[in-house]
Amino acid sequence: MSSYADVYKRSIQDPEGFWAEAAQAVHWYKPWDSVLDSSTEPFYRWFAGAELNTCYNALDVHVEAGFGEQAALIYDSPVTDTIRTYSYAELRDEVARFAGGLAGLGVGKGDRVVIYMPMIPEAAIAMLAVARLGGVHSVVFGGFAAAELAVRFDDAQPKAVVSASCGIEPGRVVEYKPLLDEAIELATSKPQHVVMLQRPQAEASMLSERDVDWQALVADAKPHDCVPVAATDPLYILYTSGTTGQPKGVVRDNGGHAVALKWTMKNIYGVEPGDVYWAASDVGWVVGHSYIVYAPLFHRNTTVMFEGKPVGTPDAGTFWRIIEQHKVKVLFTAPTAFRAIKKEDPDGELIGKYDLSHFRLLFLAGERCDPDTLHWAEQQLKVPVIDHWWQTETGWSICANCMGIEALPVKPGSPARPVPGVDLQCLDESGKPVTAGDIGALVIKLPLPPGTFPNLWNAPERYVEKYLSEFPGFYSTADAGYIDDDGYTFVMSRTDDIINVAGHRLSTGAMEEVLAEHGDVAECAVFGVADQLKGQLPIGLLVLKAGVTRADEEIVSDVVKMVRDKIGPVAAFKTAVVVKRLPKTRSGKILRGTMQKIADNQTYKIPATIDDPVILTEIEASLRTIGYASA
Ligand code: COA
Ligand code: AMP
Repeated sequence: MSSYADVYKRSIQDPEGFWAEAAQAVHWYKPWDSVLDSSTEPFYRWFAGAELNTCYNALDVHVEAGFGEQAALIYDSPVTDTIRTYSYAELRDEVARFAGGLAGLGVGKGDRVVIYMPMIPEAAIAMLAVARLGGVHSVVFGGFAAAELAVRFDDAQPKAVVSASCGIEPGRVVEYKPLLDEAIELATSKPQHVVMLQRPQAEASMLSERDVDWQALVADAKPHDCVPVAATDPLYILYTSGTTGQPKGVVRDNGGHAVALKWTMKNIYGVEPGDVYWAASDVGWVVGHSYIVYAPLFHRNTTVMFEGKPVGTPDAGTFWRIIEQHKVKVLFTAPTAFRAIKKEDPDGELIGKYDLSHFRLLFLAGERCDPDTLHWAEQQLKVPVIDHWWQTETGWSICANCMGIEALPVKPGSPARPVPGVDLQCLDESGKPVTAGDIGALVIKLPLPPGTFPNLWNAPERYVEKYLSEFPGFYSTADAGYIDDDGYTFVMSRTDDIINVAGHRLSTGAMEEVLAEHGDVAECAVFGVADQLKGQLPIGLLVLKAGVTRADEEIVSDVVKMVRDKIGPVAAFKTAVVVKRLPKTRSGKILRGTMQKIADNQTYKIPATIDDPVILTEIEASLRTIGYASA
C-alpha cells in the first residue's frame, strides 16, 4: 500500500501524470489533447480537447455495466414520512425523461437552468438532466429570499427554472412559488419557463403559459440521450457569498470535476463501489453538489438524500436510525449538526438504541471543528472522526486525512494535511512563507488541481482580482491559519467579511447593505459573534440619523425583518442594537474585528490607529444590553 507521503509527492512533482492516471476511471467520448493546458495562464484548463458527459458517468455507465438494479439513491424524509429508493436504472430513466422534457422547452447545450428545490430526489434528477443535455445548472438554496434569487437570475440568465411548490422546515411549510414569482418580477433577465413540481403539502398556483407542471412535462417527454460536451465546458454555477451583496458565481467544469470527485471517493472517503454513503447537507451547497449527487454516483455508491434536520425530525436519534436502516458506511456532515445532537442527547442514549455495525467513518466539514465536538463524536460513535477543510471554490478538500490512502493520526482542531494535488503554503503579508506554527494566509500554489473552479461566471477579472492577485502565483483561500512541524494545517479564521453560521457561509457585507437601506439608519456594522450551537451568529450595530424619533426596538425589528425578507431566513439575523457611533480608524475603517472581540469577551488591543478609544467603552455597554461582552 502506498503512503500518503508518496502519493502526495507524486501529485506535486508530476501533476499531469497523476491526474491522467486518475482520469482512466472516467468514461470519455474523446481523449484530451493535453492534461493541463496552461496557455491562458492564470486560467488553467484540465483535460483540454477531451469530451465526456457527466450524467453518463454518473448513471448510464453503471447501468450498461450491469448494475442497473443497484440502489443509486435513497430518499429518506422524516418530515413527510417517506422513504423511496431509486435503482441506477430507474434514476437513469427518470433523468433521461426529464431531460427530454427540458429539451422540449428548448434547453440545450450551454443553456443555464436555475434549480430552486428542497431536498427531494427531483432536485438531483433536475441537476443530472441538465448535465445530460450539456446545460449548466445553478442550484439556489431554499433558505434564500426572492431578491437573492433575482440576483442569480440576472447573472446566470437562465432559460428555465425548475422548482417545487414547497420546502418543509420543522413546524412550517415554506411555499416556493410566491418567492419565485417575486424573484422573476424583480429580475431583469426573466426565465422563459418555470417547471413546477407540485407537492401535496402546498399547491402552487400556475400563473401563465410560462409555468409548466413537472408531471405533465415528463408524461409527454421522450428519453433524451447524453450530449457529449468539452471537458472544459461548464457543468454548473454555484453562487457563494462574497464580501458584498453581489454573490460570486463559482464555475465548475465537466472533465476535471468528474476525474477529481471520482478519485476522492476511494482515496479520501475510503469507500468502494456499492457502499452506502451519506452526506447530510443540502443540494443548495457545494457539499450537496459534490457529495450528495455527483461523487457517490460517479463511484457507483448508494447516496442518501435526507429531508430533515439532525434534531427535531423527530428527535436527535434520526441520524442513527438512518445509518442503521440504510446500512450507511460513511457519514459526512457539519460539526453544527453534532453540536445540535449533543445538546439534545448529551449522553448518547439514542445512539445506543441503534445498530451501527455497518458504520465506519464520520467526516466533518463546513466550519472549524472544535475539539469538544470531535471528542464527543469519537467517544459516542467509536469510529474515526475526520475533519476536512474545503470551500465552494475548491469543490472538494484542500486538507483531509485521506482514509483510502493512509490513515494519519488525528490532531484535534486540524483537518490534517493537504490532499494530493494541493500545494498548500502559509504566507506572511509580504508573500514570504512563515515559520512552522506561525499564523499566516493559507494559499495554494497554482495551478489548482482538477475539480476546482477555473473561473467565475462572466467575471474573469473578479476571479483574478479576488483570488489570484494578493499573492501572485497563488490562490488565496481567504482563510488564515498555520501549518505545524508535522505539516498539519490549522484553519483559524476568515480574512474577509465572511462568517460561518451553522456551516452556512454568509456575507456580513451583504447584511450591512440591507441595514443601510433603512430610512432611519445612518451607519451600520455587522459582524459574527461566537455561538455555542451554530459556531457564529451575525449581530448588527446601528447608528441612527439625527432627529429620528421612532423607538430603537421598532427600528431593530424592522432591520431583522428586512434581512429575512431580502437575504432569507438562512442569514439567521435576529439581533441588532442602536449605538451612538461606531469605532473607526483615523482613515474611516470600521473596527469590526475589535468589536467582535469585545462581544466575545476576548482580549484585544486598542488599535493604534483608532480615532477615539472612548467609543469602545460605549460599544461594550451597548453589547451588554443584548447579552454580549458580559465578562
Ligand atoms: N428553506 C427554507 N428555510 C430554511 C432552509 C431551507 N432549505 N434551511 C434553513 N432554513 C431556515 C430555518 O428554518 C431557520 O428559520 P427560523 O429562523 O424561522 O427558525 C433559519 O433558516 C436558520 O436555519 P439554520 O441556521 O439551519 O437553523 P435551524 O435552527 O433551523 O437548525 C441546525 C440548526 C444546526 C439543526 C441546522 O443548521 C443544521 O442541520 N445544520 C447542519 C449543517 C449543514 O447542513 N451545513 C451545510 C454545509 S455542510
Ligand atoms: P463554503 O464555501 O460554504 O464551503 O465555506 C468555506 C469556508 O468554510 C472556508 O473558507 C472556511 O472558512 C470554512 N471551513 C470549511 N471547512 C472547514 C474546516 N474543516 N475547518 C475550518 N474551517 C472550515
